[in-house]
Amino acid sequence: MVKVILFDVYGTLLDVHSIKMVLEKYLPGKGDESSRLIREKQIEYTRLYSLRPPQIPYESFMSLTRAALEYTIQFIGKNVQDVPVDEIMSRYQKLEKFPEVSEVLDYIRSNSYSIAVLSNGNSEMLREVLNNSGLQDKIEVYLSASSVLSFKTDERVYKIASEFFKCNSDECLLVSANYWDIIGAGWNGLKTFWVNRSSSPKDPIGYAPDFEGKSLEDLKRIL
Ligand code: LAC
Repeated sequence: MVKVILFDVYGTLLDVHSIKMVLEKYLPGKGDESSRLIREKQIEYTRLYSLRPPQIPYESFMSLTRAALEYTIQFIGKNVQDVPVDEIMSRYQKLEKFPEVSEVLDYIRSNSYSIAVLSNGNSEMLREVLNNSGLQDKIEVYLSASSVLSFKTDERVYKIASEFFKCNSDECLLVSANYWDIIGAGWNGLKTFWVNRSSSPKDPIGYAPDFEGKSLEDLKRIL
């Protein structure tokens, strides 16, 4: 019996590729490619940091996102100094939400589930980006991987929710469009709902989600 619905943020509630337009402005012809590379590098860096040895200090998701942007600018053949990195980073705090998100969150709230986000984003970053997208009043609790100084798919991150809500892991349902996040959550005993917006195949490695849908809209069907 599910009591808590946990939402991943980047890629699930918010469209990380909505910065394409600003990237296209400063990296002409490369908006799409650079947006994808930023995301790939951002996640690669979070995985490296979640496996770091104890003497290496934590870096926030914001700081790793900036590093991913700086790598991407150089990969494309430009100097970091010649691109307004601060402006692009401030646009990363204004990502657009997917169209169905507000309505689905209202529906879930009206059905008396607890709602939280569980994200790699550090707390200040999450509050600002969700505020800017108009979702702040729809989310009760902000759970951040930064509270354990790590990132998904570190098992400690998936324990944050059951500890906070004082429930069993399998009373939490993680909703994510990131299949690796779904695997991480499932391996750690959470129930999972995979948002498969692009009809992608499942990674055939040791776990299948409990539920799947084409958008958050399909979540209503299973609750
Ligand atoms: C999140 C990113 C990784 O945790 O999607 O919100």
